[in-house]
Amino acid sequence: MITFDEKQQIFKLDTENTTYMMGLVDGQFLGNIYYGKKLRNAGGAYRFRTDEYPLSPAVLPREKLGFFGGFSFEYPTGGVGDYAESCLDVVNELGQMGCELHYVSNHIEKGKPRLPGLPASFGTEDEVETLFIVLQDEILKLQVELQYSVFAKEDVITRCVTIRNGSEHTYRLEKAYSACLHVEKEDYELITLGGAWARERHMDRRALGHGKTKVSTLRGETSHQEHAFLGLVSPDTTQTQGEVYGMQLVYSGNFTAQAEVNLYDIARLVIGINAETFSWKLESGDIFVTPEAILTYSDQGLGRMSRNFHDFMRGHLIRSPYLHKDRPILINNWEATYFDFDTDKLLKLAKEAKDQGIEMLVMDDGWFGQRSFDDSSLGDWTVNEEKLKGGLKYLVDQVNALGLKFGIWFEPEMISPNSDLYRAHPDWALQLKGRTINMHRCQYVLDLSRREVLDYVYEAVAKILRSANIEYVKWDMNRAISDMGNVTLPADQQGELFHRYVLGVYELQERLITEFPNLLLENCSGGGGRFDAGMLYYSPQIWTSDDTDAVERLRIQEGTALLYPLSTMGAHVSKCPNEQVGRMTSMKMRGDVALSGTFGYELDLTTMPADEKAQIPGQIENYHKYHSLIAEGDYYRLHSWDDKNPYDAWIVVAKDKSEALVTFCQVLGRPGYKRILLPLQGLDPNADYILDGEASVLKN
Ligand code: DGJ
Repeated sequence: MITFDEKQQIFKLDTENTTYMMGLVDGQFLGNIYYGKKLRNAGGAYRFRTDEYPLSPAVLPREKLGFFGGFSFEYPTGGVGDYAESCLDVVNELGQMGCELHYVSNHIEKGKPRLPGLPASFGTEDEVETLFIVLQDEILKLQVELQYSVFAKEDVITRCVTIRNGSEHTYRLEKAYSACLHVEKEDYELITLGGAWARERHMDRRALGHGKTKVSTLRGETSHQEHAFLGLVSPDTTQTQGEVYGMQLVYSGNFTAQAEVNLYDIARLVIGINAETFSWKLESGDIFVTPEAILTYSDQGLGRMSRNFHDFMRGHLIRSPYLHKDRPILINNWEATYFDFDTDKLLKLAKEAKDQGIEMLVMDDGWFGQRSFDDSSLGDWTVNEEKLKGGLKYLVDQVNALGLKFGIWFEPEMISPNSDLYRAHPDWALQLKGRTINMHRCQYVLDLSRREVLDYVYEAVAKILRSANIEYVKWDMNRAISDMGNVTLPADQQGELFHRYVLGVYELQERLITEFPNLLLENCSGGGGRFDAGMLYYSPQIWTSDDTDAVERLRIQEGTALLYPLSTMGAHVSKCPNEQVGRMTSMKMRGDVALSGTFGYELDLTTMPADEKAQIPGQIENYHKYHSLIAEGDYYRLHSWDDKNPYDAWIVVAKDKSEALVTFCQVLGRPGYKRILLPLQGLDPNADYILDGEASVLKN
């Protein structure tokens, strides 16, 4: 519920278990009062301390700078004396940077509007309510509308900002973040997710001192290395207890997420598009809309934060018709064949797959142009009929005739220097004047800010999809962006390119799922380089990592599940020794770990050891038995493996608590050691549970 108390000038946003409060000082300055456990009372203006020096400009105009330097602004602006991180930097027609926002009006609506061109959460009028607060800089004639959508049931508040130039001048936005939050505690710790290729989203926790602690990326995608998430916790916070403030961004490009402890020991958290690679020309009448930020608060530890995010994404962000359906169990030929395949080989694999109970064949990289290695043909989306004799439709029909669905791989955002497309349109690659474009994996990046490039890419992909019964697409992106220059934009708009690129990706995927509404889309970026809430708006699942080793996957999937539902995590059983790390793990462990994701296979069924192959039908049976529980249930992390206690465990409990699935993985043995007691979570304390397949009853 959202209320505005005119008399006290306080906005109160209530979810089932939390309260978010803001207020006005001197009727003008909008500041944060409180976010945390639910409050009954709407009072709280005393927290502004406006009776103290120098915290009210109306009382002490000669010390206004002191006010600006310490006030917890809801949307701080740069250039006028708030020396902490700003959210909005505006440069006027004279090249001067400065903006001061004053309150104008507010209104509250049931429901939530869509964001133009951007992924964003949604809900019915019964599920979400939205507060719009209009602020204005009278000198610049710049209106800033802050939007707060309250999802009461999930304890989530989303935020975004619309900036409108109401003047006759042209301005430049040098920074436009999505949200700012102030938290007041004695001690803070910060949890972030970081890593590298094949080691994505490992949890990192550190104490916060004074100053700024920032995670960000300049790679043009959310990246393997950083993640657009901040978890501000107390030192005593664990999975099951303590306070957590979680903040993440619905965005798939360069971002900044930063915590700053200021002079009063207040933590200011900000999140938004990375300002280092952003500027936006705002002409008279123009509007700029920021991506959406998602906020949640839990006083029951990290587990509760994860479940809030999971429920929110399943209920209000992921749109796919597959969201609540079992995904077809797939076999992907990448680790089975790499580029070395033809129709016969694929059909042999499909036949074996069918015999085991697998439901879909996915043809990965290498089916188009002249591509027999990673050094050519991206952009030439025509079927290589030397490999696929009889063409694509023939192959798909044959696979369908075996009783399997068919899926295909694309990398639509890229162009190989060795491609017909590049030879015809060298200017379509992102490039800096006079410089040789930097290659990665022997490829360049297409300039998706250009209409003709977008249209070409879309038509090339759609034409293939229209040509046969293709029911799944893996959309890959195998390099970070560099050489960010465009040959058509004027000099004063080159700073828009990174954001325009992301908008281009969103437009392509929106068109794709609109024309092919039943397509199962899986995003991917060299593994998990673009696993974020933005991409989940278009695809219900994302390939979590190129690392398919079951042990490495434990930490990757744990970090990913901190924010995202298990149903979104692309996970496959692959061969041993593992292709990435060379480790041997049991087929059982590989199956159990992949079961907590979308589940599928990525190995050569025609050559794998017979004893391992014999386990596939049982794994498939488990998938059919447990997948909807895993996909829809509540996730509780029970233990994270370390050197002293080398086992991992989690439990997924059905919403009605009627059943649960515990996964336990022993990473290393500890001979001669005490037995492991694993306290379970999430179960009904008044119920006894029957152990599946055994006669015993688990009593509380
Ligand atoms: C990177 C992906 O993560 C892999 O699964 C595979 O599709 C390759 N690209 C193909 O080039």
